[in-house]
Amino acid sequence: MKALVLSGGAGTRLRPITHTSAKQLVPVANKPVLFYGLESIAAAGITEVGVVTGDTEQEVRAAIGDGSAFGISVTYLRQEQPLGLAHAVLTAREWLGDDDFVMFLGDNFLIDGITSLVGEFEATRPDAHILLTRVADPSAFGVAEVDGDGKVVRLEEKPQRPKSDLALVGIYLFTAAIHEAVAAIRPSRRGELEITDAIQWLIERDFAVGSTLIDGYWKDTGTVEDLLEVNRIVLERLHARHEGSVDEDSLIVGRVSVGANAEIRNSTIIGPAVIGSGARVHGSTIGPFTSVADDCEIIDSGIEYSIVLKDSRIEGVRGVEASLIGRNAQVIAMPQAPQAHRLVLGDHSTARISA
Ligand code: DAU
Repeated sequence: MKALVLSGGAGTRLRPITHTSAKQLVPVANKPVLFYGLESIAAAGITEVGVVTGDTEQEVRAAIGDGSAFGISVTYLRQEQPLGLAHAVLTAREWLGDDDFVMFLGDNFLIDGITSLVGEFEATRPDAHILLTRVADPSAFGVAEVDGDGKVVRLEEKPQRPKSDLALVGIYLFTAAIHEAVAAIRPSRRGELEITDAIQWLIERDFAVGSTLIDGYWKDTGTVEDLLEVNRIVLERLHARHEGSVDEDSLIVGRVSVGANAEIRNSTIIGPAVIGSGARVHGSTIGPFTSVADDCEIIDSGIEYSIVLKDSRIEGVRGVEASLIGRNAQVIAMPQAPQAHRLVLGDHSTARISA
């Protein structure tokens, strides 16, 4: 069994963070979303992993390398344009051969991993197997219609009028039967070759399509709100670790991870929270549910329920919350001009300022 991990695509909803970087590499609890998927693939005993990449290939390669850090062997498969999930399967056709494979969308997060799902698939071996979960907003997903016996009768991609609240999770198990379906379908209204349509093609031709309704936590980290929530969920399970230096005037409350060479002075860190290696936190309150990446500086500030990416600086600003702050960003107070705000924001940025 192989794994096909999709790490191409555009990531428009996470702009401006994803103008310059892959959305699958945005960190939660200081680790890229994509890494959680690769770890669960390795935990399921799968070692041959194809990673589909697009414009952000260099960055994805730099992060994953040959996969040996995860105990897997990675082959990069370049998709020239993000023409859909089924198009990614077409791109990987030669590498996949006729092997069974799990397709894992690189921005999906599944807390329970895939070990038992892979075991179930190998034992029963339907032509394809999908995962479903109940969601509040099904029209944002692929949606499944299931009959009284739990059999999937119809799938529809992002329907305006969803027939159920059962969303397709972005983790699929396939036999080589999917290749015939992928070759037969046509692009959808949004111009993409949809994997949902390929599975629907299998259903219509009486191929065996199994499904599992998952009840563990799952999230497609497509938006800032989703990322902050996954960050919270992962931090809930954090193990405390204190490697940096914490002075006597500081207070660490609850489960907090402080990385090597981090320096906490005259500050309060409320867990769960993670402070990256080499970060400097002075005169600040951080947490709960906050991840501060390596080499950040948080000075005389307050920040909670947020993610701060590497090399950023927040100084003199209290009350930062529910925020995603990109790499090398600066958020700095301007005490002399209380009615004024000076902003240098990238394209597609959002700034919510209490005025
Ligand atoms: O997350 C679950 C949903 O994922 C399913 O419910 C939908 O049925 C499925 O179509 C998919 O919908 P999204 O609109 O969320 O897919 P997105 O365009 O975000 O792409 C998912 C991942 O695959 C993302 O990491 C980018 C990557 N990708 C996407 C496309 C379109 C590629 O590598 N190549 C592509 O061509």
